[in-house]
Amino acid sequence: MKDLLFIEPDGSNREEVRRLGYRFVDLLVESASRAAERMPLNRDPGLIGEHYAPSEEGRDVDLLLDEIRGFLDRGMNPAHPGYMGHMDTLASAIGIFSDAIVSSLNNNMLAWEMSPVFSELEQRVMRWTCGLFGLGATPEDPDDSERRPVGHLVSGGTLANVTAMWVARNARGGSTMDEHGLFGQPPYVFFASENAHFSFRKAANLLGLGREGWVEIPAEDDGRVRVDAMAAAIRSARAAGKIPCAVVGVAGTTVTGSVDPLEEIAELAARERLWFHVDAAYGGAIAFSDRLRPRLAGIEHADSVTFNPQKWLFVPKTCASILFRDRHQPELHLREAFVYGMSNRTTQGRTRVNLGEWTLQGTRRVDVLKLYLTLEHFGRARLARMIERQIDLAQNFAGAIAACPELELLHHPELNIVCFRYRGVRTGANRIADNERLDFINTKIQERIEASGLGWLSLPHYRRRTILRAVILHPRCTEALLDRILDEVRSAGRELAGTL
Ligand SMILES: Cc1ncc(COP(=O)(O)O)c(C=O)c1O
Repeated sequence: MKDLLFIEPDGSNREEVRRLGYRFVDLLVESASRAAERMPLNRDPGLIGEHYAPSEEGRDVDLLLDEIRGFLDRGMNPAHPGYMGHMDTLASAIGIFSDAIVSSLNNNMLAWEMSPVFSELEQRVMRWTCGLFGLGATPEDPDDSERRPVGHLVSGGTLANVTAMWVARNARGGSTMDEHGLFGQPPYVFFASENAHFSFRKAANLLGLGREGWVEIPAEDDGRVRVDAMAAAIRSARAAGKIPCAVVGVAGTTVTGSVDPLEEIAELAARERLWFHVDAAYGGAIAFSDRLRPRLAGIEHADSVTFNPQKWLFVPKTCASILFRDRHQPELHLREAFVYGMSNRTTQGRTRVNLGEWTLQGTRRVDVLKLYLTLEHFGRARLARMIERQIDLAQNFAGAIAACPELELLHHPELNIVCFRYRGVRTGANRIADNERLDFINTKIQERIEASGLGWLSLPHYRRRTILRAVILHPRCTEALLDRILDEVRSAGRELAGTL
């Protein structure tokens, strides 16, 4: 199959293509359906040479298929039911296959005329998503008024947060900012928890606000930001002649999955007349559940929301979104800046929107199809039940940790993330009081779990300690598996504490 370079549009190699496709499907299915037999993480990248140069005249597909087989066995394996290291999920089956369709169509979200059906689909799915968070319209009652919300898919939560801070900065700066940028202006600052994602550091840097542009606000022990400290920081910034432009609430912090007190932050933002952004990249998924949605109360007051379906909705990467309450803000500050002369034609009486005028990215892959198909195939209620089940599993897991004197539960999980650590027998001669020794023991425990192939926990440094972290995302994760992992943690801990 050396010369099967394209799927010939005249159908002349249809059968050959079909055979190639089946071979890819066989490979994919063989690998994905045996994911539980592989390690959750294989750190050996294999025999990839140091230097690369492409072949001169091409290689046969058979050789390449062998090579792909080697790739499939390596790397992170979030399809393993015990993989609970990071916010990475098993991809939905329909999402996996829809990605191939997207590549075959090779449309471009830059402009309506380069992706008519997907530009329309994305706007509709995003409008529904805005409604899910209470931005303007509700899912049942789409509001078509002028000041309706608007949202776009972007490549990752980082880009969504950067975009939000960008619009917030420009909204605060108004026409002066649009014309002259930061030149001659006092420093602009925004306020977000010390536990907010480091994409806000990138945003501050990119937007010319510098390291001090993000004022890091201390959080409580439970991981939620202190709103009183945020209010005080705004006052001090103003007193120092700086220009506050936004406050950020996080719905699902990266390490502990904590949800900031969004209602209080919304009130603060309203009082101080600041942009209110919610980073719900992770925790936004609980809005799918009627039972859990109240935990996001206050998000409906946000001016912008980041939400990543790639994290908890089983949609393959990348699929993230930035949503705005009022389409006029990004229209004024992004669209005006980006308009590049692509025709905004009217078809069937409607103005057709070029989405590339609303996003930092120009050419953009069609990410909406795998999202749309996953939503349609699973259904909102079924997704909600899966999310609820994972939260319940996390609660039980946390309960088992809290009940075990050798382990320390480091927070009460609000979502499906549980952070804990081994601390040893608490009383008598065996008590381990030395933090550095405990850090070391927990590092070794994590290695032991990884080597066992039972599961995979991550090992973040949080509040100056090395801890174990379980993100319970896999739809086939069970109580029994979590019990086994805890047993393994305990027995490894005892052994290590006894020998070190
Ligand atoms: C809360 C939060 N916001 C933003 C991001 C950034 O998302 P991405 O990695 O898709 O850029 C993450 C990533 O884990 C996150 O946890």
